Amino acid sequence: EESAKFVGAADSDFAQEGRRRVCQEAFRAVRQQLGRIYLPLINGEYVQTDTVIDSVNPSQVSEVVGKVGLVSVAQAEEAMEAAKAAFPGWRNTPVKQRADILRKAADLMEQRRAELSAWIVLEVGKPVKEADAEVSEAIDFCRYYAAEMERLDQGVVYDLAGETNRYIYQPRGIVVVISPWNFPLAIACGMTVAALVAGNCTLLKPAETSSVITAKLTEILVAAGIPKGVFQYVPGKGSQVGAYLVNHADTHVIAFTGSQEVGCRIYSEASILKPGQRHMKRVIAEMGGKNAIIVDESADLDQAVAGVVQSAFGYSGQKCSACSRVIVLQPIYETFVQRLVEATKSLNVGEAELPSTQVGPVIDGNAQGRIREYIEQGKQEAKLALELPSPSQGYFVGPVIFSDVPANAIIAQQEIFGPVLAIIPVADFQTALAVANGTNYALTGGLYSRTPSHIQQAQNEFEVGNLYINRNITGAIVARQPFGGFKLSGVGSKAGGPDYLLQFLEPRTITENI
Ligand code: SER
Repeated sequence: EESAKFVGAADSDFAQEGRRRVCQEAFRAVRQQLGRIYLPLINGEYVQTDTVIDSVNPSQVSEVVGKVGLVSVAQAEEAMEAAKAAFPGWRNTPVKQRADILRKAADLMEQRRAELSAWIVLEVGKPVKEADAEVSEAIDFCRYYAAEMERLDQGVVYDLAGETNRYIYQPRGIVVVISPWNFPLAIACGMTVAALVAGNCTLLKPAETSSVITAKLTEILVAAGIPKGVFQYVPGKGSQVGAYLVNHADTHVIAFTGSQEVGCRIYSEASILKPGQRHMKRVIAEMGGKNAIIVDESADLDQAVAGVVQSAFGYSGQKCSACSRVIVLQPIYETFVQRLVEATKSLNVGEAELPSTQVGPVIDGNAQGRIREYIEQGKQEAKLALELPSPSQGYFVGPVIFSDVPANAIIAQQEIFGPVLAIIPVADFQTALAVANGTNYALTGGLYSRTPSHIQQAQNEFEVGNLYINRNITGAIVARQPFGGFKLSGVGSKAGGPDYLLQFLEPRTITENI
């Protein structure tokens, strides 16, 4: 028997005229607020900083979305002290009360859906529909983790005659959340509210390029009633403030989503015992992917082409779940390549804010430069099948497809995190699986096939955390497709799934002889 099913928030229906108008009005309102300053929240106060950076619109680089005050190491230490002071009160706050703060935050996000989505569009260049879906995901994380904590709070009873045995969960202490720019609201919110509802005090350090939207999340958590010191917003330099908090003797858990390089560094630094530290730190790191979709000779090619295009070029390939390799069986190879190229040519590349845009910019100049280097690399390694032109006023990279890519090519092995797709021909299905599994990563994967034995074999042998059959491989939904990978894609259990909160809790067994 299943308990009550979790029902996720509904995305906006942009087919409705009224909804489109709400969305346009939100852009107008948000545009009037561009360039404002956002300050860190430490011990319940917004504090001044020595350093202020601009966060710009990647579609229109001259547009400053907001100015963000970055904390110093001394301010990060103040935040840590405040978190420690707030911890006894928060850990003793009833779970229902903590969960209700998350539910209130979810309601506030629902009320501010169009506005939050406009901030996402303008700050990180995500097209409107995908930004709207991201707001839904953030709402879902709040409501799902609230319910999950109430479930776990029941504990487990193993009583016998003459002896009670209670299995209970308690918070771990201080959690440092280091969030990425690609899901600036949903992932920052998910990691943060999971830590909070479990009773931990939490410091949130966002990626610099998405600090404005994180400031909006901060406003929402404060308005929802999070007590001072329990949650703190500490934007800062990763190499300085991030590293300081990771290495801090009082940090218990680090929840990170980002690159493999940074994730591995955090994992190793967190393992070193610091003077005065009396616990082992736990690291949750959601890192990259080199995700493949296999298309076999029995696939419905209409479905496969549409699914690959969406998975590879949605948010300009900047989802860790994005498809960056498509492995195609020989008999349909030429047809598939041709159709994929045609379908990709029809994509509208432009400013994220325009309703017609399907592919927006990439996040910043560094990313643009790095992706372009990979494209040059690809030209040495494989055949350029398509390179779409792109606007010049922002950080754009037109979608690029390489065909006849060797499975071990650099562009088929390294995570590019941009709209660059490698098509790899293979002779048979067994080889397709071997190629799919032939990277350091294991995050998402897909198969288009109408052959039951292939579907079965992929279920058994395709080494990925999230396997999608006959559909696109991005856009996991909370409590429906718990999300996360293994191998060098990450360590920890799946976001939006039944094991996630356990990582923020310390189980205890209490036995009483009666
Ligand atoms: N959860 C996102 C997806 O499934 C990626 O982070 O696309």
